[in-house]
Amino acid sequence: MYDADGHELLDYTLAWGLLIAGSCHPRINAAVRDQLRRSYAVGAGHELEVRLAERLTGSAAGGGPGYVRFLRQRDRAGGAAPGAGGHRRDKILKFEGHYHGWMNNVLVSHPPPPADVGAARPVPALAAGQPAAEYADTLVAPWNDLDALRAAFAAHGDEIACVITEPLLANSGCCEPRPLLGRPAGDRPCPRRAGDLRRARAAFAPLLDGRTVHSGSNNGSPVAVAAALATLEVLSEPDTYDTMHAHGRAIRRHLEQEASRLGVDLVTCGAGSVFSVHFGLRKPPRCYADTLAADATAFARFPRPPCCTNGIYLLPDGRWYVGATHTDRELQRTLPAITAALQHRLRWRLTGGGGRGQH
Ligand SMILES: Cc1ncc(COP(=O)(O)O)c(C=O)c1O
Repeated sequence: MYDADGHELLDYTLAWGLLIAGSCHPRINAAVRDQLRRSYAVGAGHELEVRLAERLTGSAAGGGPGYVRFLRQRDRAGGAAPGAGGHRRDKILKFEGHYHGWMNNVLVSHPPPPADVGAARPVPALAAGQPAAEYADTLVAPWNDLDALRAAFAAHGDEIACVITEPLLANSGCCEPRPLLGRPAGDRPCPRRAGDLRRARAAFAPLLDGRTVHSGSNNGSPVAVAAALATLEVLSEPDTYDTMHAHGRAIRRHLEQEASRLGVDLVTCGAGSVFSVHFGLRKPPRCYADTLAADATAFARFPRPPCCTNGIYLLPDGRWYVGATHTDRELQRTLPAITAALQHRLRWRLTGGGGRGQH
């Protein structure tokens, strides 16, 4: 990508991850163009949706739920859940620091201000403009805290329609789930047992028996679904995930080795192609509260600006996304930029944060 002044930047933000196959992939472009020649919208179920659903359930190695709905926004998915189990269930439970999109009922405790960390009630993310009634049925539990989850179910078990979760806490520090809570993304399909599968199907019962509807003119937008199918094809090329993960591991290793050589405290944590850098921590954080002990300004000020000066474009919160178009050539450009950025940070610290030309 290029900034407004024409500098070339190597992108590790990937539009917060969604550009995993790059910004302008010829196969995705061709699939979208092909669909545009047919129609923008169908307003009904269509063949591409079926193919994508088959692809998704198939990719769960026989353990998938067997039912898939494509929506325009995730808040509409709630429509089926309240009837599951034969009676109304209005509550959803989410985890502290997790992000699920810009919808009033889930845009809470993402992340909470330090004074509210650990609160089971939802803390709105927006200072204004988020009506309290819209998140009144949302419960929040700290990530990686099985006791807190049990307590939430003890208090509200009959009212909880579903638990929503990122595969790992990517959006507030890249904390992996503890084994008891789940497994790293992609490790094993979920649900795992026959009972889980029956319960997952039960969530679709209100839709199947007509108690709720699946409506929305843009549900399963054929242009988006065509892009999704093409993206999955790109990602299914042999070695794609191994290459992305090796690239991510090489960056993390270099960050940690160079930091240790230069006497800078930092840890990296995450999974494969998404990880975070935490300055000032010595062990990986397990939940959002742990990340608060990190030096939050360190990444925003260093090495982000010096990395950008060296042609590497990064997110302001220390998170990196590696995609299918990052090759060895990009890695060879990235590693020296990291070293230069850490040296810059060290110089800044040694000069007491002053010094001309340090910013
Ligand atoms: C876990 C997760 N869900 C959803 C989204 C996208 O949500 P939206 O496009 O509404 O911002 C993101 C984007 O970063 C995400 O990380």
